[in-house]
Amino acid sequence: MDGYQEYAASGEYLHLLSLPAWPVLRPRLATALTGVDPDAGPVLELGAGTGLGTDVLLETVPNDVLAAEPSASLRGVLLARLADRGTDRVTVFPGGATEVPLPDRIAAVVGMHMVGHLAPADRKRLWTAVAERLAPGGPVVLNVQPPGAAEPVAEWPWIGVTVGGLAYEGTGSAEPTGPDSVRWRMRYRTRRGDTVLAETSADYDWWIISAERLAAELADAALDASVDEDLVIGRKPPL
Ligand SMILES: C[S@@+](CC[C@H](N)C(=O)[O-])C[C@H]1O[C@@H](n2cnc3c(N)ncnc32)[C@H](O)[C@@H]1O
Repeated sequence: MDGYQEYAASGEYLHLLSLPAWPVLRPRLATALTGVDPDAGPVLELGAGTGLGTDVLLETVPNDVLAAEPSASLRGVLLARLADRGTDRVTVFPGGATEVPLPDRIAAVVGMHMVGHLAPADRKRLWTAVAERLAPGGPVVLNVQPPGAAEPVAEWPWIGVTVGGLAYEGTGSAEPTGPDSVRWRMRYRTRRGDTVLAETSADYDWWIISAERLAAELADAALDASVDEDLVIGRKPPL
């Protein structure tokens, strides 16, 4: 797990570039977490990144959080943000969804913008393992992202934000690598006016999965599955 490098170059940019997605996602995630049993163990967060979903968990449920994040550069941002928040409720595990030791009891599972990192066989094993440990009524909350098929994705125009006198920007493109997988290339740059001061890139493999297919996988693991656009929720049936 220490060798995980795919997001190594993203640490400087990912948080800033991810912020715009969260004003819309935040209340949807909070609603999906309604009814989480505060006494049913921790909430497991898969691929916590810089902690934008962790923020929602901390502000929505009283449970502790077990946040699995394989990228050292993103863990650096996450740990710094948790320290600034002054919370001791989050355990940050240095590894991914297939490496984190699962607690015996889990109140809920959250995985935002990360399910494409999981190969089909790993997903199947994971949903079964978490379903066995989930509290009655506990949700697994995931979301899916484009592309919906293994097709080339043309690079989109640079987007970003300004911090002080500099612009931090990113763009991305993808190429198919198989019938249900693509390889993303994210490019990042730091710019002052027309002068590019720094440039870097991050490449990672991504498994294609639709919301409906993901819901079917959760249903196969004996969870009550529902789809709300890109959000997929599998809930352990009540006793
Ligand atoms: C696009 S980021 C999303 C981060 C955060 N969840 C958010 O929504 O802002 C994808 C995250 O998945 C993580 N990741 C990659 N492979 C993973 C795996 N096998 N298990 C768990 N997380 C993984 C990456 O390190 C990265 O933090």
